[in-house]
Amino acid sequence: MAVKSAQTLVLLVAFTSILTINVTANKNCNTTFGGNWNHTNNFWGYRHKNATEISSKRIVVGGSENWRFGFNYTDWAIKSAPFYLNDTLVFKYDPPNDTTFPHSVYLLPNSWSFQNCDLRRAIKIGEVNAGAGEGFEFVLKRWQPHFFACGERNGFHCKVGLMKFMVWPLIRSPYY
Ligand SMILES: *[C@@H]1O[C@H](CO)[C@@H](O)[C@H](O)[C@H]1NC(C)=O
Ligand SMILES: *[C@@H]1O[C@H](CO)[C@@H](O)[C@H](O)[C@H]1NC(C)=O
Ligand SMILES: *[C@@H]1O[C@H](CO)[C@@H](O)[C@H](O)[C@H]1NC(C)=O
Ligand SMILES: *[C@@H]1O[C@H](CO)[C@@H](O)[C@H](O)[C@H]1NC(C)=O
Ligand SMILES: *[C@@H]1O[C@H](CO)[C@@H](O)[C@H](O)[C@H]1NC(C)=O
Ligand SMILES: *[C@@H]1O[C@H](CO)[C@@H](O)[C@H](O)[C@H]1NC(C)=O
Repeated sequence: MAVKSAQTLVLLVAFTSILTINVTANKNCNTTFGGNWNHTNNFWGYRHKNATEISSKRIVVGGSENWRFGFNYTDWAIKSAPFYLNDTLVFKYDPPNDTTFPHSVYLLPNSWSFQNCDLRRAIKIGEVNAGAGEGFEFVLKRWQPHFFACGERNGFHCKVGLMKFMVWPLIRSPYY
């Protein structure tokens, strides 16, 4: 009990000092900006973007490498981040013929199946011919992690070919 109240006290003190700093900062702010900013500017001086100015991106998965065996898509996803809700991913891959191997795109249900390239409960979003020409599009509509993988050769392309990546789209802030 004594320990608990001591902790509460420490928290209170910390909280109070944060409040104090905030009040001081606001005072400084007022003198610095001198009331010169109006409602068309927000605090940081950016203008509000209206609905038509907020446009979603269209991103080709893998860039010029497209969707192929042996390209590091985890690395690509890290370098291409951030992704936002309503951004469109485009998957492009050659349809299978005598010389090219087939590819496909699946959504895996969770991070365990993603780690293990386990396709048992995966949902197919692009069959082997879907990536031809301009490819096919997948819109990131849900605020949740998306685990993408190639489903060919029972997970071999995913495991050995590095054909998998994770995206958790962010909610786009109007102040960017
Ligand atoms: C804050 O800014 C307004 C407008 O410039 C000014 O009238 C007011 O005195 C300032 N308040 C403080 C505490 O500096
Ligand atoms: C309000 O902000 C707009 C946009 O930056 C600017 O053009 C205008 O002069 C500002 N008005 C005042 C009173 O500061
Ligand atoms: C939104 O911004 C665009 C581009 O600046 C402009 O053409 C359009 O008229 C604006 N729409 C509204 C409703 O303000
Ligand atoms: C792929 O890229 C990720 C992130 O940069 C890295 O951690 C991983 O080791 C790479 N995999 C291979 C097989 O190079
Ligand atoms: C995404 O697009 C849909 C349909 O165009 C729209 O209703 C929704 O508000 C958008 N969501 C975001 C976060 O922009
Ligand atoms: C198979 O597809 C690749 C890539 O589209 C193409 O370069 C190649 O000529 C095709 N081979 C045959 C036998 O059609």
